[in-house]
Amino acid sequence: MIKKELPEEIKEEIEGLVKELNDHCYRYYVLDAPVISDAGYDLLYRRLKELEDRYGYILPESPTRRVGAPPLDKFEKVRHTEPMLSLDNAFSDEDIREFDKRVKRLLDTDADIEYTVEPKYDGIAIELTYRNGLLYKASTRGDGYEGEDVTRNIMTIKTVPLKIEGNGDISGEINIRGEVYMDIEEFEKLNEQRKKTGEPLFANPRNAAAGSVRQLDPLITASRRLYMACYGVGTVRGLKFKSQADLIAWLREKRFPVSPEMMVVKGIDSVLEAIKKIEKNRNNFSFETDGVVVKVNDFDLQYKLGVKTREPRWAIAYKFPAERGITKIKEIIGSVGRTGVITPYTIFDPPIKIGGVTVSRSTLHNLDDIKRKDIKIGDTVVVERAGDVIPHVVEVIKDRRTGEEKDFPPPEKCPVCQSKVVKEEGEVAIRCVSLHCPAQIQERIKHFASRSAMDIEGLGEKNVELLYVNGLIKHFEDIYKLKYEDLLKLPRFAEKSARNLIDAIEKSKKTVLSKFLFALGILHVGEYTAKLLSKNFRRLEDLYNITPEKIMDIRQMGEKLASSISTFFNDDKNIKILESLKSLGMKISNPDFLYEEKGEEPLKGLTFVITGTLPKARKAVENLIEKNGGRAASAVSASTDYLVAGENPGSKIIKAKALGIKIISYEGLSEIIKRKSKSPGLFD
Ligand code: IVH
Repeated sequence: MIKKELPEEIKEEIEGLVKELNDHCYRYYVLDAPVISDAGYDLLYRRLKELEDRYGYILPESPTRRVGAPPLDKFEKVRHTEPMLSLDNAFSDEDIREFDKRVKRLLDTDADIEYTVEPKYDGIAIELTYRNGLLYKASTRGDGYEGEDVTRNIMTIKTVPLKIEGNGDISGEINIRGEVYMDIEEFEKLNEQRKKTGEPLFANPRNAAAGSVRQLDPLITASRRLYMACYGVGTVRGLKFKSQADLIAWLREKRFPVSPEMMVVKGIDSVLEAIKKIEKNRNNFSFETDGVVVKVNDFDLQYKLGVKTREPRWAIAYKFPAERGITKIKEIIGSVGRTGVITPYTIFDPPIKIGGVTVSRSTLHNLDDIKRKDIKIGDTVVVERAGDVIPHVVEVIKDRRTGEEKDFPPPEKCPVCQSKVVKEEGEVAIRCVSLHCPAQIQERIKHFASRSAMDIEGLGEKNVELLYVNGLIKHFEDIYKLKYEDLLKLPRFAEKSARNLIDAIEKSKKTVLSKFLFALGILHVGEYTAKLLSKNFRRLEDLYNITPEKIMDIRQMGEKLASSISTFFNDDKNIKILESLKSLGMKISNPDFLYEEKGEEPLKGLTFVITGTLPKARKAVENLIEKNGGRAASAVSASTDYLVAGENPGSKIIKAKALGIKIISYEGLSEIIKRKSKSPGLFD
């Protein structure tokens, strides 16, 4: 679109509107003292947007830049100019006194030290980089040295200034650090909504904040209400601060959100008092805090104290003890994770508030957890919640039992799709292995489309979620039913991207058996096993209704794999999906199958087991059998055709005799190969 020439008065109007809107934004979000109604704000905002669109004049700090940016494929890396450190922890008053003693010792002083005391925000650490006053980059901490570029996401947070107003003092680069967090209320609302749509819940506000910031699609971040509390600087050029309190005052003046609860106190007794004050008050905060951060106030002293490997010696985090509550277990329900593992969780009645967060459920690790803690439905239990940890049942109050309590029977069917579940020997997990299970479908589709599987470019995490949420793919067959027109209706697709995806899907229809088997996501079947299967079974259909024994005949296949593969191919619902994929045009070739291609398979369909010492190494004999199209199995079973016995045979020979299996020598084996070969060919 050709933009209109920019008349001076429009330029002024735009600049005026940007300033005015940013002022309102600051008053509303940071000061919590708006002077304009929401409707009034919207009106101004719309006017600005209209002018910007018409004249193409968009200031870097325009509030319209806070929304919308195309989704990313991945985050770029950002190196921090100075490492982002973490904090040492203190768990008691003594630990805090120890910290103070250490500080004094290192500074070689007896005088009381001045400290700042402020809540520890439970969120995700972010560095904001400003260049000449404009927000230029926002990055996560990452490993402390290098984080991820989350600029477009952080720009959606209304309390983060896009521009620092200054009078020459803000030229060059400034790095401001702080914590991005989510209010408890917003967190609970978000989870409520996710419960309705069947999405996995966030365990705590911290995870919700981190998940929202580390989002490839800024629109999702924008839809979550996040806050930031700034508490430090990285590199600053040209700015001199005397102390932490000084820095905070400057940040406040420059309209950065800072903690209103910060106190400056002198001497360790006052620090402890200040900590108590915050602890007492913490349930009144709108945000989650799991502790208090104590910092030496004076920057010169901070500098003298320095840094140990990853933590400064001038600061410490006091962690509040875990909080507990008592409630009753109303129900225990199995939930199906994305990999099919069924984990039980408890529903509490009444829900209890612990540390300001309402806890209405908690997960139990697995069925053994229930057994170990002797948890029954109807039990009164102690529930604990510590900061970022998922709430959990600590113990049952047995005295409160009435005799009405009931055991939770291990589920036999998947609570989501009702398929029969699988429990493996020696494993505590119970799993649903159905291809149909909606609980696992997104994860399965992602795996199906991934590079080493069907390799459908453009069908990654975000698009799978989008297609799933919009009801376009419920099973992986649906991928092949997608239409160009359907995609165009979705927010993330334009003509080109829609066409590309449809083409990539079409291309994936021509595949090879090993990739296809891997794509199915059969429990325990990785790329290697998929390849092994494709070497031994020419066609997909050869695996239908396969017995575990037939799989075990393949060397390297253990019981666990055999059972998983056979369970998969004996499930009618799964077979139906495979057939439906074929009818949608899937063409599966098999270049791996050992003999078909060469037309040489003298031992085809025959299974051999080896025992005793042979003229050649066992491995070589096994290779020989396989090269000629036979299978070398490790144990004698009813499906064994020949036992190749050398000197000093083991107990296998007894079993073979008992089963009436033919016993041959190494020479006998070569005879069979020669006899059956059309040419002397593959025998070595
Ligand atoms: S000061 C040198 N102050 O807690 C480290 N950190 O467990 C500077 N945090 O990495 C950190 N609230 O992400 C500081 N008021 C606060 C904080 C705070 C939360 C986070 C921060 C830090 C982590 C350490």
